[in-house]
Amino acid sequence: MFNLPGITYSALQALLLANVATAWNNGVAKVPPMGFNTYVISLASRLSRVKLMCGVISSSSSSRWNRFACNINEQLIRDTATQMKNLGFLVAGYQYINIDDCWLTASRTSDGHLIVDSSKFPSGMNNLTSFLHGLGFKAGIYEDLGTKTCAGFAGSLGHELTDARDFVAWGFDYTKIDNCNSGSYNGTNASRFQRWTNALTQVKAETGKSLVYTLVEWNSFDAWTWGPNTANAWRIYDDIQANWGRIKQILNQASFIGNYSNFYGHNDLDMLENGNGNLTLAEQRSHFTAWALAKSPLLVGTDVSKLSNDSIQILLNPEIIAINQDTAIGEPLKPFFWGKNPDGTNDPTFPAQYWSGYYKDTHHTAIMYINFNEVTVDLNFTLSHSPHLKADKTYAVRDLWQHKDIGTASKFFFSGSIAPHDVRAYIFTEM
Ligand code: GLA
Repeated sequence: MFNLPGITYSALQALLLANVATAWNNGVAKVPPMGFNTYVISLASRLSRVKLMCGVISSSSSSRWNRFACNINEQLIRDTATQMKNLGFLVAGYQYINIDDCWLTASRTSDGHLIVDSSKFPSGMNNLTSFLHGLGFKAGIYEDLGTKTCAGFAGSLGHELTDARDFVAWGFDYTKIDNCNSGSYNGTNASRFQRWTNALTQVKAETGKSLVYTLVEWNSFDAWTWGPNTANAWRIYDDIQANWGRIKQILNQASFIGNYSNFYGHNDLDMLENGNGNLTLAEQRSHFTAWALAKSPLLVGTDVSKLSNDSIQILLNPEIIAINQDTAIGEPLKPFFWGKNPDGTNDPTFPAQYWSGYYKDTHHTAIMYINFNEVTVDLNFTLSHSPHLKADKTYAVRDLWQHKDIGTASKFFFSGSIAPHDVRAYIFTEM
């Protein structure tokens, strides 16, 4: 108990609670957005990013992004959406089709509007969003809060309200705001992104339309501390790559910040790399399970027409998606036992292995284990280690990758032979 001059502890507590209660909630993206996103970053562009962050190259360098990343057009978007519908992604929950960087030109009209690159989008954005809506999808679009996008096109600094109004007028439902070329703005990370929060709030007042707002901030990686008051999702790490090493780095970061993520405001672990690079099926299963159970947005980031049937089955696992999209429990799974490392270890090469969280209510518990070892291992844990399991209860256990009930557990749980880089996911239901 303590008193500050003029303020009691309970008044302070009420103030803090009020602050939590007024966290930005624009009524959309209660659960993490699922869908498709056009952008896939190359190794070459990542190296340039590192140099950019260190101030080595100018932000307007044109050679930083691979061609595929910028090589987008309306036909690609239409074909992708049609395929995603036909393959069952839409009914599985993947509802946003998002256009990333490179849809626009480098300059604005004389009255300050963004210009759609008509060589890539000759029919214009209204036609495209109508097409997507007609299929049953929602539509997303990218901008940058600086003077230029990361790929060098017109940025939004000073034009946020005009751009937000145009995005709504063009039929979009979702926007991703990036972080490049913001050197001329002297505010904090939070205040830079707040400019878009304010613009979107005003546009909602004018039109009744709320856009989902997702942001990218990798200057100081602090977005989870102010993101819940600013946006619906915030990136937590530098750009993902299609390799196991980067997946481990991002998951290690996520393991420490689960408390910041909940309904309407989500830690964003970045796009899904399933289908890209040389990720094995075990790695794809682990990547997808971890992203879903950390309650990240789930955005497919590959050429959907080339996805193997095995990769598709991973991305469509309904029992994993159900946890990500749980409308009763917003908290992500969190580590309860690090495994090889002592609990609490920050190790980007070997993240926490045993994770748990409630699902639907406090009588259902989701459990995830990932084998980061290079050898096959058995899974073994004591139920009382997890704050989400009760030591004196018996649980019915369902395996979410085998899609079957595998018996009961009390006090201990055991499962054999988990291959390197593979995952196990279960629902434990109190009996
Ligand atoms: C940044 C973002 C990526 C992507 C590119 C586009 O790198 O982190 O997700 O949007 O910009 O240029």
